[in-house]
This record gives sequence, C-alpha cells and structure tokens, in this order.
Amino acid sequence: MSRVTLSRYLIEQTRSHNTPADLRFLIEVVARACKAISHQVSKGALGGVLGSMETENVQGEVQKKLDVISNEILLEANEWGGHLAGMASEEMDNAYQIPGRYPKGAYLLVFDPLDGSSNIDVNVSVGTIFSVLRCPDRKGDEGDLGEDAFLQPGTEQVAAGYAIYGPQTMLMLTLGNGVKGFTLDRELGSFVLTHDNIKVPETTQEFAINMSNQRHWEEPVKRYVGELLAGEEGPLKKNYNMRWIAAMVADVHRILTRGGLFMYPRDGREPEKPGKLRLMYEANPMSFIIEQAGGASTNGEQRIMDIQPTSLHQRVAVYLGSKEEVERVTSYHKK
Ligand code: F6P
Repeated sequence: MSRVTLSRYLIEQTRSHNTPADLRFLIEVVARACKAISHQVSKGALGGVLGSMETENVQGEVQKKLDVISNEILLEANEWGGHLAGMASEEMDNAYQIPGRYPKGAYLLVFDPLDGSSNIDVNVSVGTIFSVLRCPDRKGDEGDLGEDAFLQPGTEQVAAGYAIYGPQTMLMLTLGNGVKGFTLDRELGSFVLTHDNIKVPETTQEFAINMSNQRHWEEPVKRYVGELLAGEEGPLKKNYNMRWIAAMVADVHRILTRGGLFMYPRDGREPEKPGKLRLMYEANPMSFIIEQAGGASTNGEQRIMDIQPTSLHQRVAVYLGSKEEVERVTSYHKK
C-alpha cells in the first residue's frame, strides 16, 4: 500500500471536506518550515545553535538562539506565499506585517516557534505550536494589521497543530475533523501519515504538573492534586503516576498518545497573571487538538476555546487531557 504523505492527505481533505486550496498551501508551508527547524534543532552543538541570546522576548524571558532562528524560519517561509494577512508569534511584541511587495491572503498564523526551549540545551524534546484563524474583513482598510484582528476565541480556529522534535520529528494536525499524526521520513523528506485516528482515553491514571509550585497553588488545585497523590487510599481510590517534561508539546504529545491530564494552574507567584501559558499560541491550538481527539480543556472555570482574548500575549490557566479528570478538577474550582 502506498504511503499517505501530508500533501496527499491535504489534497484528499480538499476533495472530502472542501478544505480551501490556500489553507492547504498554508499548512504545507508551515510543515516545510517545521522540517527546517527540526534540522536546525538536530544540529545541536555542531551547528553552534545552542545557548542564549542577550535579548528577552515580550514576556521577559531570555531568548535562546534557536527561539530566534525558528521564528525567522517561520516568518520567511510564510510571508511571500499570498495565503496570509499577518502573523503573530511568542517571540514578537506586535503583529508581523506581510511586506508590501508580497500578496496578502485570507488567514492569520499565530505560533510559538520553539516551545519548551529551556529543554534545548539538555537535548530533550521541544516543538513548534501553531494556530490558523481567518482574518476578519477589514473593509478596504489597507493600513497595518492591528492586534485586534487576532483576538478571536479558539472556537474560530480553522486549523491547529504542532511539530515535536524528539526521537522522531512528528507533525500533529487538526483541520476540525479529527487529529492526524505524521512522522517525518528523513529519507523521503516528507511527513507520512502514521497515526490515523488519534483518541485521548476518557479516563487516566497519569497527570502532569510542576509540583515545585505546590505552595503557590490555589485551594482547589491543592485539594485535587492531594487526592491524586493519596492514590488507592484516597477518595479517588486509584494510584496515579506523574510525568513532567516541562515542554508543553512533549507533555501534550504523551497525553494524545496514552491519555493523561496536563495542568498549569494560575498561582500566587504573580497573582495578576491568570497562569503561565499563553492563550493564543499555546492553550488554544492545544485545546483544539485535544478536543478533536475526544479530550477536554478548561481554565478551571470555562472551556478554554470559549475565552474571548483581550491581548495577543494573554496568559491562561490550563487543564487539558482525559475528560474525566479535566471535569473533576474543573468541578473543584466551581465548588
Ligand atoms: O511555554 C512555556 C513552557 O515552556 C511550556 O512549554 C511548559 O509546559 C512550561 O513552560 C514549563 O514550565 P516550568 O518551567 O514551570 O516547568
């Protein structure tokens, strides 16, 4: 049987689900950029790409060299094709304008070019997360694209995905009708469909959270994690295992593969911030993928994809993965 490459899958989607040709082209270009990032990441110390820059991003985080390289790769790959009206990235304060010499298109691309980049120097998995939105009608306004065009709830996403650069490079993608997983075949140079029908099991005995922040958590989280840790002797009457890779892509990838619950609650370290993770280019795309695989995703109070964003780099608390546990921890917040 012939192998189904990403290109072939996208063409089939055009036939079966009317996926527009320009969206197909956009996904192909993002996938090509992810191959280039994968190549850079894999060079490690040999490519002189490890370590930090002397700069900080808009979040005040020190930028790794590979954060900046990955951002450049995504911008350069996507700016000329005529499928985008603008881009936004974790690594840039403001919306990126498509240079005037190139045609503009119907979509907006939002990304975290290299998620979990503190893992790079220790050779642990990192990834690229992306979300695609439609650009609202700007009614003849040819001026610069403002941040407001991007401020759409996650339910408006037309596609989302991530590439994970681990022992294998994989691309996980949703166009709103399920989740497909593609593995990079380095000999062919193509992403090949290897995971056809990805489903997050409804129940789980595994959770992921940075336990070192326990003393800063709010009461419902302390109670819930306390019950997980109590195991068979506690009210939940089963033992739970814990994993924390500290790269959202890698933790979410494990959950897509075998189930689990991922948590990054808001906490008392910076009480004015509603969490650590970013809504537009981390939580929303991952929530879309998880929901499309049958899982759930909330901020403890509401479905993440229903949140109306108010700024590009807005933060949010995240509970996502196997439905039963997401519902349980969300219900503790509501009590
Ligand atoms: O983007 C933020 C991020 O690197 C996520 O990928 C990851 O889940 C989290 O931060 C790790 O946080 P911490 O440093 O608290 O373990």
